[in-house]
Amino acid sequence: MKKAAVLGHPISHSLSPKLHNYWLKKYNINGEYIAIDTPAEILAQRLTQLIGAGYSGVNLTIPLKEQVLPLLDEISDQAKQIGAVNTVIFSQGKIIGKNTDAYGFIENLREDIGNISQYVKHPVVLGAGGAARAVISGLLAEGAEQIILLNRTRETAEIISKMHPAIKVEDWDKRSNILEDASLLVNTTSLGMKNQPDLDISLKYLPVNTLVTDIVYNPLKTKLLEQAEVRGNKVVDGLGMLIHQAAPAFEEFFGQKPEVDEEIRGILK
Ligand code: ATR
Repeated sequence: MKKAAVLGHPISHSLSPKLHNYWLKKYNINGEYIAIDTPAEILAQRLTQLIGAGYSGVNLTIPLKEQVLPLLDEISDQAKQIGAVNTVIFSQGKIIGKNTDAYGFIENLREDIGNISQYVKHPVVLGAGGAARAVISGLLAEGAEQIILLNRTRETAEIISKMHPAIKVEDWDKRSNILEDASLLVNTTSLGMKNQPDLDISLKYLPVNTLVTDIVYNPLKTKLLEQAEVRGNKVVDGLGMLIHQAAPAFEEFFGQKPEVDEEIRGILK
C-alpha cells in the first residue's frame, strides 16, 4: 500500500486528507493519506520514521515549509526560488523538496479563465508572506513583465523583490491608487479570512477588464471579490489553488494524475 501524510503543527484544520482520500477512492488506489501533528523540533525524526515505514512522501504546512530546507538532499528550482517546500518525496534514500503552490495558483486561474497570458503581464500583489512568494514565482514563470508588490511591512516586500528585477515595491498606503495599469490583482494577505478584518481597498481606479483573485478561500467570496464582481471584473476564488496544488503531490505519491472536478470543490466547501 502506498502511504503519504501531511505534517504540520497545528494540523487538525488541514483539508489535505479530505482531498487526497477523495482521489484515492475515485481512482480506486490502495493507498492511505493521513495528517500527523509534527512540531518543528521533531521534523527530522518524523521524516526518518516515515521513510522507515515506507512512506512515498509528505506534504508540509505551517510551520514546516521553511524548517525542512536544511534536511533536504535535493530541492527543485522553484522551491529554492520560493524559499519553501510544501511537498517532500522520499526516493531511493533521498529526501527531495518541491513546491507546488505556484503551480496551484496558476492552474486555478487557468482553469477558470483559459488563456491567462494577458492577465499575468502587470499584476499587483498584496501581501509578502510565504503565499506571496509562491504567487510571484508562478507569475514570473508565466512571463510577468512587472509585478507591483505592496505589503503593510514594506521591508518584507523589499526582501521578496530581490527574487527578480521585475518586482517593484510600493507603499501599502498606495494600494487603492496604483491600480490603473493592473492586469491582475491578487490578495495574498490574511485579510478577508474568517475572523480577520476585511481588506480595506477602493477599486475605483481598477480597469474593469482586470482579473481579481484572492488566495483566501474561507469565505469563498471575500469582500474583495464581492467588490470586484459588483463592478464587473472577472474574479477567481482561492479554493481552486488549494485543490490544484495538491494534484501534482498526489501524482508523486500515488502515481496517478488526478482530475480536478466540481465534486471535490463541493466536498471542500
Ligand atoms: P502566509 O505565509 O500564509 O502568506 P503570513 O506570512 O502570516 O502568511 O503573511 C500574512 C500576510 O498578511 C503578510 O503580508 C501580512 O503583512 P505583514 O508582513 O505586514 O505582517 C499581511 N497582513 C496580516 N494582517 C494584516 C493587516 N491587518 N493589514 C495588512 N496586512 C496584513
